[in-house]
Amino acid sequence: MDGNGPHFANGIKNGWADQNSIVLWTRLTQDKLAHFKGEPFIEIPVGKMKSLAENQDLEGIYNTQIPDGLSLKDMEGYCPGSEGQVLLKYHKYGDSANEKTVDWRSVDPQKDFTHQWKLEGLEAGEKYSLKIYARANKGAQISDSISGSFLLPADRQTKRDVKFCVVSCHDYNRRDDLENGHKIYPSMAQLQPDFYVHTGDVEYMDKPTPYAMTEELMRFKWNRLFALPFQRSFYNHHTSYFMKDDHDVGFDDSYPGRDYGMVSFERGLEIFDLEQFPSHPKRYKTIRWGKDLQIWIVEGRNYRNQNYLEDGPEKTIWGTDQKQWFYNTVTESDATYKVLITSSPILGPDRVKKNDNLSNATYSYEQTEILDFIKKQKNLFIVNGDRHWQYVTHFENTNLWEFGCGAGADVHAGGWKQEDFRPEHQFLRVKGGFLSVSLTTEKQAAIKFIHHDVAGNPVNEVSF
Ligand SMILES: [Fe+2]
Repeated sequence: MDGNGPHFANGIKNGWADQNSIVLWTRLTQDKLAHFKGEPFIEIPVGKMKSLAENQDLEGIYNTQIPDGLSLKDMEGYCPGSEGQVLLKYHKYGDSANEKTVDWRSVDPQKDFTHQWKLEGLEAGEKYSLKIYARANKGAQISDSISGSFLLPADRQTKRDVKFCVVSCHDYNRRDDLENGHKIYPSMAQLQPDFYVHTGDVEYMDKPTPYAMTEELMRFKWNRLFALPFQRSFYNHHTSYFMKDDHDVGFDDSYPGRDYGMVSFERGLEIFDLEQFPSHPKRYKTIRWGKDLQIWIVEGRNYRNQNYLEDGPEKTIWGTDQKQWFYNTVTESDATYKVLITSSPILGPDRVKKNDNLSNATYSYEQTEILDFIKKQKNLFIVNGDRHWQYVTHFENTNLWEFGCGAGADVHAGGWKQEDFRPEHQFLRVKGGFLSVSLTTEKQAAIKFIHHDVAGNPVNEVSF
């Protein structure tokens, strides 16, 4: 510790906002910044990684990736946690006279020195300001403080323009601004979105420098990513919904039983769901954003069974409860436009050999079931992450539309050939960026899906 901590090097994240509640997250750190000037990890071959993972070779996992004589604390991006206490003050924007305080709470060393607050009884459609404070222990001086803000959705009677951004797939090692993080964050902030959705693959545990085959290394990677200036300042001030996907948990295309080194699949889920991101008892939720828009956030890892099972009624990604919830809540909704946000594609197209998402041939049964339902709906659009290229898919003479937001940086894009433009493709771009969705309510409600490059320039637009 630099002597006057603890600090907030990982900022604030929020999640699961609805009309009256939101969950806030923070982590106490020893230092104000991560050690970005630390030593680089050694990149080991994929084959070596697989054998270390298979053999649960704990010593090897560290020895092969950290140079001789060094330890994790010497490495680039190290951002150690700290015991201590946090205090929260928040108030409706412009109404500091009615500020509320949540008294000092100790962070949880069992959960990587994080703390979460669930705020309830808030007012729909309002913007809130907040400030959090840190101290080492009861009686100690305040050692750090940071400010944040969030916006809550308006209720179902209120006509209001809404704009949101959707991002997928990025990691520390493939950031496109070495000093600050990913360019998409300041680009999105410029658009002043009401909220933001990350569809998962926020970080890649199974990519080198280091391959995160222990809980400690997974935390190292989360802490390093959330210490990046662009990420931190964006998350501090935007209402967010964080979803997860395979790489956040362990192996590519992971499923129950597919453990990663020392970390079981279930522990990978837990570290994401209960520790490193705002928590919610179920990992799916639907949120009305005013009269004309409702979104559905669905979970793609927690409720699936094994990818290798034979296709049929038992094989699932969504699970029975989530599917029934989706059908019920969509049927009950009177929102003008409905947007289903899924971490991986439903329509595709995807590469033939893939066996992980509903657009893959090995998941035809569940895909057909869900699409049969969607075909009966009016103005329901699919937005997805996972695939590292931007696309719009639409099958003629159907109401089926899917908008793939693509990867979060140009260096991260790939996996599809630009020349492979299929009949169902309305747009295809094998580059990084993000998707924005704008709902306008002037005269008649309209919805616009815009793909952007990493600088925020629009590269395609589809309106309804
Ligand atoms: Fe990905």
